[in-house]
Amino acid sequence: MAFPESRLRRLRRSPAIRDLVAETLLDPGDLILPIFVEEGLSGRRPITAMPGVDRLGLDELAAEAETCAALGLGGMLLFGVPEHKDLRGSGAYDDKGIVQRAIGEIKRSVPETLVIADVCLCEYTSHGHCGVMDGADVDNDQSLPLIARTAASLAGAGADIVAPSDMMDGRVGAIRSELDRNKLQATPIASYAVKYASAFYGPFRDAADSTPAFGDRKGYQMDFRNGDEALREARADVDEGADLLIVKPALPYLDILHRVKTDLAVPTMAYHVSGEYSMLKAAAHQGFLDERAAVLESLTGLRRGGADAIITYSAKDAAAWLRSL
Ligand code: PBG
Repeated sequence: MAFPESRLRRLRRSPAIRDLVAETLLDPGDLILPIFVEEGLSGRRPITAMPGVDRLGLDELAAEAETCAALGLGGMLLFGVPEHKDLRGSGAYDDKGIVQRAIGEIKRSVPETLVIADVCLCEYTSHGHCGVMDGADVDNDQSLPLIARTAASLAGAGADIVAPSDMMDGRVGAIRSELDRNKLQATPIASYAVKYASAFYGPFRDAADSTPAFGDRKGYQMDFRNGDEALREARADVDEGADLLIVKPALPYLDILHRVKTDLAVPTMAYHVSGEYSMLKAAAHQGFLDERAAVLESLTGLRRGGADAIITYSAKDAAAWLRSL
């Protein structure tokens, strides 16, 4: 059947018809809010490049967890900003470290909150790289035990899921065995299997104070010219024991998200990163975009592209907008 018998506009005639045939739903429960917890801070400190996002002191976490629960968010993803950094990132695997304590605060106030702990050394190393250095290079194999130890420490502190974002080869396997050795065999691993070296992480590095002191991350994060490599990364991580996969950044990588979801068929999250958030905020602030419409369209697009859940700094706003639709 072709025009004029076929008219695709028929199914767009009214909100009720459009809702009836809509293929993709966006629910507050699909959204994960990243949180920056700063050691020694009391209250909140705004992050300049990310309007509407603050670093939180430990004393703010109970209230934040209650807000997230009231909005029906899917969970919180924790990053730490420690007072002390060293060459080996020891704050990351300190059982009394800032994120370990933050998990305790959240679980005490709202025990059913889903807490995902980011596993990386870059916020804790004096040089800002995601592993330990050997000269100018990040030493893959020497970094693995420290990353695995970090994951076990965070899971031991009560994290429901650990999410390694360092991009070392073999880290999912190393984390799985360390968790299992510590009787944490029930803790899932959400691997940032597909993480590109991206300009869109700029505001995050300010937020988490994790800018590399020298060089860049192109020796371990992926080259954005490549797509097949994303599938090799994702397969390797699933083979090593990853339970969920994360694709990051999100909007410039919708093709990758779709390929990973289709090919691997495991639960997949998209990370709508700091730069993507800041772009929308800046344009909305200038009056160039309607923030609400642009954010909901972006997040729905990620769901349509294959994301089961989305990590986004807009999680609280988006949930409030969805609830008032
Ligand atoms: C840590 C990490 C980064 C992000 C998440 N985990 C920064 C980086 O790799 O430089 C970026 C998140 C964002 O930009 O929102 N390795």
